[in-house]
This record gives sequence, structure tokens and C-alpha cells, in this order.
Amino acid sequence: MDHAVIIAANTVNYNDSRDLPCKINEMMEESKKNEWLKELKASSHKQRERCMPGTRVDVLTNIQVWLNDLNMPNILWLSGSPGSGKTTIASTVVADFESLSGQFFFCRDQAEFCDPDNLWRHLALDLALGNDALGKSIAQALEIQKANIRGLDISTQFEHLIVKPVQELFQHTVTPLLIVIDALDECDKYEKLLPSLKSWSWRLPKFLKLLVTSRHYLDIKGTLDSVSNHIGLYTGEEVSDQTSNDVEKYFTTRFSVVTRLQTSLHLNWPGPAKISFLVKKAAGLFIWAKCAMDFISHRGGDTEERLNVICSDSGEGIDAIDTLYQHIVFVAFQGLREPEKNSLSSVLGTIVIAKNPLRASDLEQLLGVRDALSIISQLSPISSLTQSALRLFGLILRSTVSVLLGLV
Ligand SMILES: Nc1ncnc2c1ncn2[C@@H]1O[C@H](COP(=O)(O)OP(=O)(O)O)[C@@H](O)[C@H]1O
Ligand SMILES: [Mg+2]
Repeated sequence: MDHAVIIAANTVNYNDSRDLPCKINEMMEESKKNEWLKELKASSHKQRERCMPGTRVDVLTNIQVWLNDLNMPNILWLSGSPGSGKTTIASTVVADFESLSGQFFFCRDQAEFCDPDNLWRHLALDLALGNDALGKSIAQALEIQKANIRGLDISTQFEHLIVKPVQELFQHTVTPLLIVIDALDECDKYEKLLPSLKSWSWRLPKFLKLLVTSRHYLDIKGTLDSVSNHIGLYTGEEVSDQTSNDVEKYFTTRFSVVTRLQTSLHLNWPGPAKISFLVKKAAGLFIWAKCAMDFISHRGGDTEERLNVICSDSGEGIDAIDTLYQHIVFVAFQGLREPEKNSLSSVLGTIVIAKNPLRASDLEQLLGVRDALSIISQLSPISSLTQSALRLFGLILRSTVSVLLGLV
């Protein structure tokens, strides 16, 4: 007959009373492990956009090949300019790759996700939750350090929380485990992480694969180039045909949604010539393609007129972004009533001249406006950049808005 006892609010089932001490022991170990792992508790990542189906197929395939080939370096470095699509690729990998065992998306706008001190703790927790034995080993490391992991320097945290537990347990596994670190360059003082990242290549086994994305900074390149496989998302004059094809696919798909919704437009609108023109202007920058399409397809706007406005400029890539933002701000102002124009001017003006990044609540207090984010949402094609904080927005718009508001 089966028996059960309740210990510390947990039910322990057993058949034979000789099993009981062993079962109790297991349960106590488990609860001790969970207690120690609580020291690593961290916020979870927000959901991010993924690649439009049919785009970045080559990059995703190359990542998959690298992942399954244990003879290749255990680090893959994906580099590219801001807006080239690195985070979107990293999010797609996180969502679609079964071997995912941990993720950390650095993000300048969230204090917790730009602090280099949080990286190894966060990833250790992910690894611990995915593998019971590893969890025990990481919990032991915390017990030995009396959970004082935060007080240790970053390389020592890496050693205690990742290297030792993994080395103790896994030397012979052949199934790859994947860790994704996105936007290393958005980490404050990312230089502090470079020594441990480099040592990942030789301290950790081949099956523990690390995908790192960042801008093409020289010190990151100097650290990772010799120990990793590299994929570059080139933009501007160096843009690859493959990337241009992906951007073309993006435009074609988004225009097909526009023409389906607006029956006054021909189904093939705006046609291959205009699309190639836009692809050339984007020069591999997905962020430009996205903003341009959000601007063109903005509800209530004159779609054809908006496309003409965008096509009337000559710049490409980064230059074209400045001009695109100027159009967006200009058109947004045209459609507003006087009091709305005043609120938007004061909010944008404050963002532009602020020395430090501002939160929506700072703006509301400073200017006495009711809802700073909804005022900014009048610039809807670029307002997605403002959801969590206004810093990036401030940087990008500084030149554009300064001119428009007569601040310089
Ligand atoms: N493959 C893609 N499919 C659809 N949209 C994309 C794709 N790549 C990028 N984007 C769009 O471009 C924007 C900028 O890309 P992102 O991945 O954030 O660039 P990065 O991380 O290199 O700065 C994203 O918010 C997304 O809307
Ligand atoms: Mg990014």
C-alpha cells in the first residue's frame, strides 16, 4: 500500500518505509538548492520582434550549422550597425532553437539589463533551471560563497557560477546547449566582460555554444575575432546581396498588407522600381525599412504622398535615417492642433536638450504635461523606440529636432 507524509508543506509518497529516509533527503536537498538559487533571481526579458518569415534564412541557417558542429569554435559573434537587425535575429534564435539554455539581452534603457554584474548570475540561473544536476552544482557554489556572488569581480563570478559547475558535470555530452547574449555594446562598461567572454572559448566545452551580438567595436573584435566564428551584417556600401534580398522581401510583404487594406491602390503598388529604390536607400538597415513602412502605412495618412516624400531624398543608409526622421516629425506637426503642437514641441525640445536620458515621468513632472508617451506617440513610426525610455530617441532625434524646433 502507498504511504504519504507531509514534510515542510510538501507531500512525500513512498511504498516501502525503507525508502523514506532517502526520499526525505532528496526533498531536503531540493529545497536547499531552490533556496540558494533564489539568490540569483532576476527579472525576465520582454518579448521582442522576430524576423519576418523568409528573411535572414541564410544567417539563421549558418547559426544552426555552427550550433550543431562541435568542431567549430564554441563562440559565434554576430556584428553589425545599430538597426541592422541583430536583436531581431537573436530573438528569433531564442524563440525557435530547441537547444536554448540561457539568454541575456543587454538593453541600455533598463538598469538591470545594462549592468555587467548581472550577466553571469542571470545565465547561471537559466542553466540551473534547465538542468537539475547543474542547478545543484551552482547552488553549491552559492553556498560556498555564502551567496556573496555580487561582491566578487566579474571574472570570479564567471568562474564560480559557470565554469566550475559546467566542468564538474559535463565533459562528455554531445548535444549542444546554446546561450545567447545580445547587444554586448549596450552593457555599461562591457570591457569588464571581455576577459571572461574570451576565456569561454577554452575554459568551457565545445558543446556549450555562445552566440554574442554587438556593434563592430574594435575592442570587442580584438577579443572575439580570434576565438569565434564571425557573421557580419554589413550595411551601407558593403551591404550583401543576401541582406538586400531580405530587405526587399520585407518591403514587398509590408506593401502587400497596405494594398490589401487600401482597395484604391493597385495590388502591385508601388511596383518593382520603387521597391528597388527603397531597398537601395535602406542599404541593409532594417530599422530604416521599418520606419519608412510605418510612416508610409500610417493610418489616416495619404499613402502615395508619403511614399513620394520618402522617395524624394537622395541619401542612403545612415544619412537616409536622419532625413526620414525629419519627414516624420515634420508630417506629425502638420496634422496637429495648436495646443498639441505646443505640447509636442516642449516634450521633444526637452528630450533634445536634456543632458541625461529622461523617463516619461520626468517629462511629465518637468513640463506639467499629462502623458508624455502619448504625446510622443504622435510620431508613431518612430515611437516604438520610446516605449521603455526616451534615451535612444533623444540621441537619434537630437540633430533632426534641434533644427526643426529652432534650438540650434
Ligand atoms: N528580419 C527582420 N524581419 C522583420 N523586421 C526586422 C528584421 N530585422 C530587423 N527588423 C526590424 O528592424 C528593427 C531594428 O532591428 P534590430 O534587430 O533592433 O537591430 P539591431 O539590434 O541591429 O540594432 C526591429 O525593431 C525590427 O522592427
Ligand atoms: Mg539590438
